[in-house]
Amino acid sequence: MGAHRGLRDGLLPDRGFTLNQEACAAVPSPRDSSLTTRTIPNAMAFEGRRQTAAGGIDPNASIGRREAAAEDVPSQQVFDSHSLMWDHGKGRELPVAAREADEAAAVIARYARRHGDTQRYSLLSPAALLATQERQRAIADLFVRLGWLDLTDIRLLEVGCGTGGNLLEFLRFGFKPEHLQGVELLPASVAQARLVLPASLRIMEGDAAGAAASSVPEASQDILYQATVFSSLLDAAFQQRLADTMWRWVRPGGGVLWYDFTFNNPRNPDVRGVPVERIRQLFPEGRLQVRRLTLAPPVARAVTRLHPTLYTLLNTCVWMRTHVLAWVAKPK
Ligand SMILES: C[S@@+](CC[C@H](N)C(=O)[O-])C[C@H]1O[C@@H](n2cnc3c(N)ncnc32)[C@H](O)[C@@H]1O
Repeated sequence: MGAHRGLRDGLLPDRGFTLNQEACAAVPSPRDSSLTTRTIPNAMAFEGRRQTAAGGIDPNASIGRREAAAEDVPSQQVFDSHSLMWDHGKGRELPVAAREADEAAAVIARYARRHGDTQRYSLLSPAALLATQERQRAIADLFVRLGWLDLTDIRLLEVGCGTGGNLLEFLRFGFKPEHLQGVELLPASVAQARLVLPASLRIMEGDAAGAAASSVPEASQDILYQATVFSSLLDAAFQQRLADTMWRWVRPGGGVLWYDFTFNNPRNPDVRGVPVERIRQLFPEGRLQVRRLTLAPPVARAVTRLHPTLYTLLNTCVWMRTHVLAWVAKPK
């Protein structure tokens, strides 16, 4: 298909996405920025700066494997591959199967504890709006680089689609509603998504790694999208199962589109930053390109109260960005 020419031919290196299968960056939706905002304290942004400066990473250069690891695995954020849990001090010793079964229920409980998200993530907040627009530009840039100038034939499935904000954005990009699908765990979010999205856009309710989306054929999707879902999954085995499911759904030549934050918030044990090295572990067969974006939300909220242009100004410092937009290409 002509639309897939860019993937076959590879991408040209530039300031954003690069060819070296590793590095790079992009923007959030209302809910992206919401999660972002409450997740990344100033302290972590400054931790990121220290490490980045020490590693000498050029904001505009592609990030090599070792450099990306240095930038994205801060000392507070240790992935414990032996216990298969993020080491955040809970010390639970459950068998893997029990932990995985637990995790979907635990996500529901964590979201039930959340309050005050709506206003924080509202597009009427300059910080949320600017972060959303930044991510949209980065995604558009990626599609162009992939050679997907006409999206009407491209099929995309979003895991953890929330209330459907991202799928609405993809409709505006030019996807056909019947080529878009979402899976979402929370019934209230599913109901809201179905209200705002066209009926021909299928929203499935339940655990994306479980039976909810078992009707999705293997290799049927060009793009599997996740935005700030993996950072809310604290069980590493469950993360891997969801990643494996997503990978099966992607056709060779397509890929996983990933937007999530990379730093922990010591004040919020319900989320966990996902370093670039972890994305690589989750999709070992993928070719990873990463682009860093999103001004640290607490900073963004503070400075946009003074003037919205300060978002753009401070965001030129790559170490002030807390998220990555990653494209994990599935080889043909
Ligand atoms: C932070 S929200 C992000 C929502 C949406 N992706 C966005 O960017 O606006 C994460 C969402 O993932 C959903 N989720 C988490 N684990 C899931 C799973 N295993 N299956 C389906 N949805 C899941 C949660 O219910 C929640 O709505």
